[in-house]
Amino acid sequence: MTARNLLLLPGDGIGPEAMAEVRKIIAYMNAELGAGFTTDEGLVGGSAYDAHGVAISEGDMEKALAADAVLFGAVGGPKWDAVPYEVRPEAGLLRLRKDLKLFANLRPAICYPALANASSLKPELVEGLDILIVRELTGGVYFGEPKEIIDLGNGQKRGIDTQVYDTYEIERIAGVAFELARTRGNRVCSMEKRNVMKSGVLWNQVVTETHKRAYSDVQLEHMLADAGGMQLVRAPKQFDVIVTDNLFGDMLSDVAAMLTGSLGMLPSASLGAPDAKGQRKALYEPVHGSAPDIAGKGIANPIAMIASFAMCLRYSFNMVAEADNLEKAIAEVLDSGIRTGDIMSEGSRQVGTTEMGDAILTVFKRLSA
Ligand code: IPM
Ligand code: MG
Repeated sequence: MTARNLLLLPGDGIGPEAMAEVRKIIAYMNAELGAGFTTDEGLVGGSAYDAHGVAISEGDMEKALAADAVLFGAVGGPKWDAVPYEVRPEAGLLRLRKDLKLFANLRPAICYPALANASSLKPELVEGLDILIVRELTGGVYFGEPKEIIDLGNGQKRGIDTQVYDTYEIERIAGVAFELARTRGNRVCSMEKRNVMKSGVLWNQVVTETHKRAYSDVQLEHMLADAGGMQLVRAPKQFDVIVTDNLFGDMLSDVAAMLTGSLGMLPSASLGAPDAKGQRKALYEPVHGSAPDIAGKGIANPIAMIASFAMCLRYSFNMVAEADNLEKAIAEVLDSGIRTGDIMSEGSRQVGTTEMGDAILTVFKRLSA
Protein backbone atom coordinates (compact mmCIF):
# COMPACT_ATOMS: atom_id res chain seq x y z
CA MET A 1 0.00 0.00 0.00
CA THR A 2 1.32 3.47 -0.85
CA ALA A 3 2.01 5.60 2.19
CA ARG A 4 0.37 8.96 1.83
CA ASN A 5 1.88 11.49 4.19
CA LEU A 6 -0.26 14.42 5.21
CA LEU A 7 0.75 17.31 7.42
CA LEU A 8 -2.21 18.93 9.16
CA LEU A 9 -1.80 22.59 10.10
CA PRO A 10 -5.16 23.58 11.61
CA GLY A 11 -3.95 27.07 12.62
CA ASP A 12 -6.17 29.57 14.43
CA GLY A 13 -9.81 30.54 14.86
CA ILE A 14 -12.20 28.16 13.13
CA GLY A 15 -9.28 26.31 11.50
CA PRO A 16 -9.12 23.53 14.13
CA GLU A 17 -12.91 23.02 14.13
CA ALA A 18 -13.02 22.70 10.36
CA MET A 19 -9.97 20.41 10.35
CA ALA A 20 -11.65 18.09 12.88
CA GLU A 21 -14.26 17.24 10.23
CA VAL A 22 -11.55 16.33 7.71
CA ARG A 23 -9.87 14.10 10.30
CA LYS A 24 -13.07 12.04 10.48
CA ILE A 25 -13.02 11.56 6.73
CA ILE A 26 -9.34 10.54 6.79
CA ALA A 27 -10.01 8.05 9.60
CA TYR A 28 -12.87 6.51 7.64
CA MET A 29 -10.82 6.30 4.44
CA ASN A 30 -8.00 4.58 6.29
CA ALA A 31 -10.26 2.14 8.10
CA GLU A 32 -12.62 1.23 5.28
CA LEU A 33 -11.01 2.20 1.98
CA GLY A 34 -7.40 1.25 2.73
CA ALA A 35 -6.28 4.76 1.86
CA GLY A 36 -3.08 4.51 3.92
CA PHE A 37 -2.90 8.12 5.05
CA THR A 38 -0.43 8.91 7.76
CA THR A 39 -0.95 12.25 9.42
CA ASP A 40 1.41 14.45 11.32
CA GLU A 41 0.53 17.77 12.84
CA GLY A 42 2.02 21.19 13.36
CA LEU A 43 1.32 24.74 14.44
CA VAL A 44 0.97 27.77 12.20
CA GLY A 45 -0.06 31.38 12.66
CA GLY A 46 -0.98 32.75 16.06
CA SER A 47 -0.93 29.33 17.66
CA ALA A 48 2.68 28.87 16.50
CA TYR A 49 3.54 32.35 17.76
CA ASP A 50 2.12 31.56 21.19
CA ALA A 51 4.14 28.33 21.38
CA HIS A 52 7.38 29.30 19.61
CA GLY A 53 7.37 33.08 19.06
CA VAL A 54 7.30 32.62 15.26
CA ALA A 55 4.52 32.14 12.71
CA ILE A 56 5.81 28.67 11.88
CA SER A 57 8.70 26.81 13.50
CA GLU A 58 11.67 25.38 11.60
CA GLY A 59 10.60 21.91 12.70
CA ASP A 60 7.14 22.34 11.21
CA MET A 61 8.63 23.81 8.02
CA GLU A 62 10.73 20.65 7.69
CA LYS A 63 7.63 18.51 8.16
CA ALA A 64 5.84 20.54 5.48
CA LEU A 65 8.72 20.08 3.04
CA ALA A 66 8.75 16.34 3.66
CA ALA A 67 4.97 15.77 3.43
CA ASP A 68 3.18 14.64 0.27
CA ALA A 69 0.57 17.32 0.97
CA VAL A 70 -0.21 19.92 3.60
CA LEU A 71 -3.75 20.60 4.79
CA PHE A 72 -4.01 24.12 6.14
CA GLY A 73 -6.88 25.57 8.18
CA ALA A 74 -6.72 29.33 8.74
CA VAL A 75 -4.53 31.85 10.53
CA GLY A 76 -4.90 35.12 12.39
CA GLY A 77 -7.16 36.90 14.83
CA PRO A 78 -7.34 40.05 16.97
CA LYS A 79 -5.28 38.38 19.69
CA TRP A 80 -2.19 38.77 17.47
CA ASP A 81 -2.92 42.22 16.01
CA ALA A 82 0.02 43.75 17.85
CA VAL A 83 2.71 41.13 17.23
CA PRO A 84 5.73 42.25 15.14
CA TYR A 85 5.14 42.27 11.35
CA GLU A 86 7.76 39.55 10.68
CA VAL A 87 6.00 37.05 12.93
CA ARG A 88 2.38 38.01 12.27
CA PRO A 89 0.18 34.93 11.66
CA GLU A 90 -0.01 35.47 7.88
CA ALA A 91 3.81 35.24 7.69
CA GLY A 92 3.52 31.50 8.36
CA LEU A 93 1.30 30.98 5.35
CA LEU A 94 3.45 33.18 3.11
CA ARG A 95 6.60 31.29 4.16
CA LEU A 96 4.95 27.96 3.37
CA ARG A 97 3.96 29.21 -0.08
CA LYS A 98 7.43 30.62 -0.77
CA ASP A 99 9.62 27.82 0.65
CA LEU A 100 7.49 25.04 -0.85
CA LYS A 101 7.56 27.01 -4.14
CA LEU A 102 3.78 26.76 -4.51
CA PHE A 103 3.48 29.09 -7.47
CA ALA A 104 0.11 27.91 -8.75
CA ASN A 105 -2.96 28.69 -6.69
CA LEU A 106 -6.16 27.11 -7.96
CA ARG A 107 -9.33 28.74 -6.67
CA PRO A 108 -12.49 27.24 -8.08
CA ALA A 109 -15.67 29.26 -7.64
CA ILE A 110 -18.56 26.88 -8.04
CA CYS A 111 -22.14 27.78 -7.28
CA TYR A 112 -23.93 24.75 -5.88
CA PRO A 113 -27.48 24.74 -7.30
CA ALA A 114 -28.93 24.67 -3.79
CA LEU A 115 -27.14 27.91 -2.93
CA ALA A 116 -27.95 30.13 -5.91
CA ASN A 117 -30.24 32.11 -3.63
CA ALA A 118 -27.49 32.80 -1.10
CA SER A 119 -25.48 34.86 -3.61
CA SER A 120 -25.68 38.63 -3.49
CA LEU A 121 -26.25 38.47 -7.27
CA LYS A 122 -29.49 37.40 -8.93
CA PRO A 123 -29.77 33.59 -8.94
CA GLU A 124 -29.92 33.40 -12.75
CA LEU A 125 -26.51 35.10 -12.95
CA VAL A 126 -24.79 32.54 -10.72
CA GLU A 127 -26.74 29.30 -11.13
CA GLY A 128 -24.38 26.69 -12.51
CA LEU A 129 -21.37 29.01 -12.17
CA ASP A 130 -18.07 27.14 -12.51
CA ILE A 131 -15.00 29.35 -12.73
CA LEU A 132 -11.41 28.48 -11.93
CA ILE A 133 -9.12 31.30 -10.89
CA VAL A 134 -5.46 30.44 -11.36
CA ARG A 135 -3.52 32.87 -9.22
CA GLU A 136 0.27 33.25 -9.34
CA LEU A 137 1.32 32.74 -5.72
CA THR A 138 5.05 33.16 -5.16
CA GLY A 139 5.87 36.37 -7.01
CA GLY A 140 4.63 39.87 -7.70
CA VAL A 141 4.12 42.51 -5.07
CA TYR A 142 3.77 39.94 -2.28
CA PHE A 143 7.45 39.07 -2.38
CA GLY A 144 9.17 41.68 -4.60
CA GLU A 145 12.15 43.59 -3.15
CA PRO A 146 12.58 46.28 -1.99
CA LYS A 147 9.70 45.95 0.43
CA GLU A 148 10.15 48.44 3.24
CA ILE A 149 9.23 51.67 4.97
CA ILE A 150 12.08 54.16 4.84
CA ASP A 151 12.49 57.39 6.76
CA LEU A 152 13.00 60.31 4.40
CA GLY A 153 14.42 62.40 7.23
CA ASN A 154 12.10 65.34 6.60
CA GLY A 155 9.30 64.12 8.80
CA GLN A 156 8.08 61.96 5.93
CA LYS A 157 8.28 58.21 5.47
CA ARG A 158 7.98 56.20 2.28
CA GLY A 159 6.29 52.79 2.01
CA ILE A 160 7.59 50.66 -0.84
CA ASP A 161 6.38 47.40 -2.34
CA THR A 162 7.75 46.05 -5.58
CA GLN A 163 5.68 44.44 -8.31
CA VAL A 164 8.07 42.26 -10.26
CA TYR A 165 7.65 39.29 -12.63
CA ASP A 166 10.22 37.38 -14.67
CA THR A 167 9.38 35.61 -17.93
CA TYR A 168 9.62 32.11 -16.43
CA GLU A 169 7.17 32.95 -13.66
CA ILE A 170 4.55 34.10 -16.15
CA GLU A 171 5.22 31.19 -18.52
CA ARG A 172 4.75 28.50 -15.88
CA ILE A 173 1.54 29.94 -14.42
CA ALA A 174 0.11 30.46 -17.92
CA GLY A 175 1.01 26.84 -18.70
CA VAL A 176 -0.93 25.63 -15.66
CA ALA A 177 -3.96 27.70 -16.69
CA PHE A 178 -3.92 26.41 -20.28
CA GLU A 179 -3.48 22.79 -19.17
CA LEU A 180 -6.40 23.07 -16.76
CA ALA A 181 -8.55 24.83 -19.35
CA ARG A 182 -8.16 21.79 -21.59
CA THR A 183 -9.78 19.65 -18.89
CA ARG A 184 -12.82 21.98 -18.66
CA GLY A 185 -14.24 24.68 -20.97
CA ASN A 186 -11.01 25.22 -22.95
CA ARG A 187 -11.05 28.99 -22.40
CA VAL A 188 -8.56 31.20 -20.57
CA CYS A 189 -8.93 34.87 -19.71
CA SER A 190 -5.68 36.54 -18.63
CA MET A 191 -5.97 39.65 -16.45
CA GLU A 192 -3.37 42.37 -15.80
CA LYS A 193 -3.01 46.16 -15.98
CA ARG A 194 -0.84 46.59 -19.07
CA ASN A 195 -2.25 50.10 -19.48
CA VAL A 196 -0.43 51.21 -16.31
CA MET A 197 2.15 48.61 -15.30
CA LYS A 198 5.31 47.37 -17.04
CA SER A 199 4.86 44.03 -15.31
CA GLY A 200 1.42 43.97 -16.92
CA VAL A 201 2.89 44.59 -20.39
CA LEU A 202 5.30 41.69 -19.91
CA TRP A 203 2.57 39.48 -18.46
CA ASN A 204 0.40 40.08 -21.52
CA GLN A 205 3.26 39.36 -23.93
CA VAL A 206 4.42 36.19 -22.25
CA VAL A 207 0.92 34.76 -21.92
CA THR A 208 0.32 35.51 -25.62
CA GLU A 209 3.61 33.87 -26.66
CA THR A 210 3.06 30.83 -24.43
CA HIS A 211 -0.37 30.40 -25.97
CA LYS A 212 0.97 30.64 -29.52
CA ARG A 213 3.84 28.25 -28.84
CA ALA A 214 2.05 25.41 -27.08
CA TYR A 215 -1.64 26.00 -26.43
CA SER A 216 -3.21 27.53 -29.53
CA ASP A 217 -6.06 24.99 -29.27
CA VAL A 218 -7.25 26.83 -26.14
CA GLN A 219 -9.27 30.02 -26.56
CA LEU A 220 -7.38 32.97 -25.04
CA GLU A 221 -8.72 36.38 -24.12
CA HIS A 222 -7.04 39.31 -22.32
CA MET A 223 -8.80 41.70 -19.97
CA LEU A 224 -7.62 44.60 -17.86
CA ALA A 225 -7.95 43.50 -14.27
CA ASP A 226 -10.31 46.31 -13.26
CA ALA A 227 -12.64 45.52 -16.15
CA GLY A 228 -12.28 41.85 -15.22
CA GLY A 229 -13.54 42.62 -11.71
CA MET A 230 -16.49 44.45 -13.20
CA GLN A 231 -17.28 41.57 -15.59
CA LEU A 232 -17.07 39.09 -12.72
CA VAL A 233 -20.00 40.74 -10.99
CA ARG A 234 -21.84 41.67 -14.20
CA ALA A 235 -21.82 38.34 -16.03
CA PRO A 236 -19.63 35.82 -14.18
CA LYS A 237 -20.66 32.83 -16.29
CA GLN A 238 -18.73 34.22 -19.29
CA PHE A 239 -15.51 32.94 -17.66
CA ASP A 240 -13.96 29.49 -17.61
CA VAL A 241 -10.34 29.82 -16.38
CA ILE A 242 -8.96 33.18 -15.25
CA VAL A 243 -5.18 33.52 -14.92
CA THR A 244 -3.75 36.49 -13.07
CA ASP A 245 -0.98 37.69 -10.78
CA ASN A 246 -0.67 37.37 -7.03
CA LEU A 247 -2.37 40.59 -5.93
CA PHE A 248 -5.11 40.75 -8.57
CA GLY A 249 -5.72 37.05 -7.92
CA ASP A 250 -6.14 37.73 -4.22
CA MET A 251 -8.81 40.36 -4.87
CA LEU A 252 -10.58 38.72 -7.79
CA SER A 253 -10.83 35.39 -5.98
CA ASP A 254 -12.59 37.03 -3.04
CA VAL A 255 -15.03 38.62 -5.49
CA ALA A 256 -15.59 35.30 -7.25
CA ALA A 257 -16.01 33.56 -3.91
CA MET A 258 -18.82 35.84 -2.86
CA LEU A 259 -20.68 35.13 -6.11
CA THR A 260 -21.18 31.61 -4.85
CA GLY A 261 -23.04 32.63 -1.74
CA SER A 262 -20.50 32.23 1.00
CA LEU A 263 -16.77 32.37 1.56
CA GLY A 264 -17.33 29.29 3.71
CA MET A 265 -17.80 27.17 0.59
CA LEU A 266 -14.59 27.60 -1.34
CA PRO A 267 -11.50 25.40 -1.34
CA SER A 268 -8.11 26.07 -2.88
CA ALA A 269 -5.02 24.19 -3.94
CA SER A 270 -1.52 25.61 -4.08
CA LEU A 271 0.84 23.55 -6.21
CA GLY A 272 4.54 23.53 -7.02
CA ALA A 273 6.26 22.30 -10.17
CA PRO A 274 6.32 18.54 -10.76
CA ASP A 275 9.58 16.86 -9.71
CA ALA A 276 11.37 14.04 -11.57
CA LYS A 277 8.73 11.56 -10.35
CA GLY A 278 5.90 13.86 -11.40
CA GLN A 279 5.08 14.72 -7.77
CA ARG A 280 4.20 18.28 -6.84
CA LYS A 281 4.54 19.89 -3.43
CA ALA A 282 1.06 20.98 -2.44
CA LEU A 283 -0.93 22.82 0.17
CA TYR A 284 -4.70 22.82 0.40
CA GLU A 285 -6.63 25.48 2.27
CA PRO A 286 -10.08 27.00 2.45
CA VAL A 287 -10.31 30.50 0.95
CA HIS A 288 -12.02 31.77 4.10
CA GLY A 289 -10.07 33.16 7.02
CA SER A 290 -10.00 32.27 10.70
CA ALA A 291 -13.33 33.98 11.50
CA PRO A 292 -12.38 34.78 15.12
CA ASP A 293 -15.90 36.11 15.83
CA ILE A 294 -17.41 32.63 15.56
CA ALA A 295 -14.39 30.53 16.58
CA GLY A 296 -14.99 27.89 19.24
CA LYS A 297 -18.76 28.11 18.94
CA GLY A 298 -19.15 25.01 16.82
CA ILE A 299 -21.09 26.88 14.13
CA ALA A 300 -18.43 27.34 11.42
CA ASN A 301 -19.04 25.92 7.96
CA PRO A 302 -16.56 23.05 7.39
CA ILE A 303 -17.40 22.67 3.67
CA ALA A 304 -14.49 24.73 2.30
CA MET A 305 -12.06 22.66 4.39
CA ILE A 306 -13.65 19.38 3.31
CA ALA A 307 -13.70 20.51 -0.33
CA SER A 308 -10.01 21.42 0.04
CA PHE A 309 -9.37 17.84 1.11
CA ALA A 310 -11.27 16.70 -2.00
CA MET A 311 -8.86 18.79 -4.09
CA CYS A 312 -6.00 17.13 -2.22
CA LEU A 313 -7.34 13.67 -3.13
CA ARG A 314 -7.59 14.77 -6.76
CA TYR A 315 -4.35 16.68 -7.29
CA SER A 316 -1.88 15.09 -4.86
CA PHE A 317 -3.02 11.47 -4.83
CA ASN A 318 -4.90 11.06 -8.10
CA MET A 319 -7.81 9.57 -6.11
CA VAL A 320 -10.29 10.88 -8.63
CA ALA A 321 -13.27 8.67 -7.74
CA GLU A 322 -12.89 9.49 -4.05
CA ALA A 323 -12.62 13.22 -4.81
CA ASP A 324 -15.72 13.05 -7.02
CA ASN A 325 -17.63 11.23 -4.30
CA LEU A 326 -16.66 13.71 -1.63
CA GLU A 327 -17.73 16.63 -3.82
CA LYS A 328 -20.99 14.83 -4.65
CA ALA A 329 -21.56 14.24 -0.93
CA ILE A 330 -21.27 17.98 -0.26
CA ALA A 331 -23.74 18.80 -3.04
CA GLU A 332 -26.19 16.13 -1.87
CA VAL A 333 -26.16 17.35 1.72
CA LEU A 334 -26.81 20.90 0.52
CA ASP A 335 -29.63 19.63 -1.72
CA SER A 336 -31.19 17.93 1.28
CA GLY A 337 -31.57 21.34 2.94
CA ILE A 338 -28.94 21.05 5.65
CA ARG A 339 -27.14 24.35 6.23
CA THR A 340 -24.69 26.02 8.55
CA GLY A 341 -25.62 29.52 9.67
CA ASP A 342 -23.62 31.34 6.99
CA ILE A 343 -25.63 29.76 4.17
CA MET A 344 -28.91 29.40 6.02
CA SER A 345 -32.11 30.12 4.10
CA GLU A 346 -35.79 29.80 4.88
CA GLY A 347 -37.09 26.25 5.02
CA SER A 348 -33.61 24.75 5.54
CA ARG A 349 -32.40 23.05 8.68
CA GLN A 350 -29.59 24.84 10.50
CA VAL A 351 -26.82 22.69 11.93
CA GLY A 352 -23.40 23.20 13.51
CA THR A 353 -19.94 22.27 12.29
CA THR A 354 -19.92 18.68 13.58
CA GLU A 355 -23.36 17.86 12.30
CA MET A 356 -22.51 19.22 8.84
CA GLY A 357 -19.30 17.17 8.80
CA ASP A 358 -21.18 14.05 9.91
CA ALA A 359 -23.87 14.54 7.27
CA ILE A 360 -21.25 14.78 4.52
CA LEU A 361 -19.37 11.76 5.85
CA THR A 362 -22.56 9.69 5.92
CA VAL A 363 -23.27 10.39 2.26
CA PHE A 364 -19.59 9.91 1.35
CA LYS A 365 -19.66 6.47 3.01
CA ARG A 366 -22.73 5.51 1.04
CA LEU A 367 -21.20 6.68 -2.25
CA SER A 368 -17.92 4.89 -1.48
CA ALA A 369 -19.51 1.56 -0.59
C1 IPM B 1 -5.51 34.62 0.73
C2 IPM B 1 -5.28 35.51 1.91
C3 IPM B 1 -3.79 35.70 2.12
C4 IPM B 1 -3.28 36.44 0.91
C5 IPM B 1 -3.41 36.42 3.41
C6 IPM B 1 -3.96 35.70 4.62
C7 IPM B 1 -1.92 36.59 3.54
O1 IPM B 1 -5.97 36.70 1.76
O2 IPM B 1 -5.00 33.49 0.74
O3 IPM B 1 -6.20 35.04 -0.20
O4 IPM B 1 -3.32 37.67 0.83
O5 IPM B 1 -2.79 35.76 0.00
MG1 MG C 1 -7.21 36.76 0.04
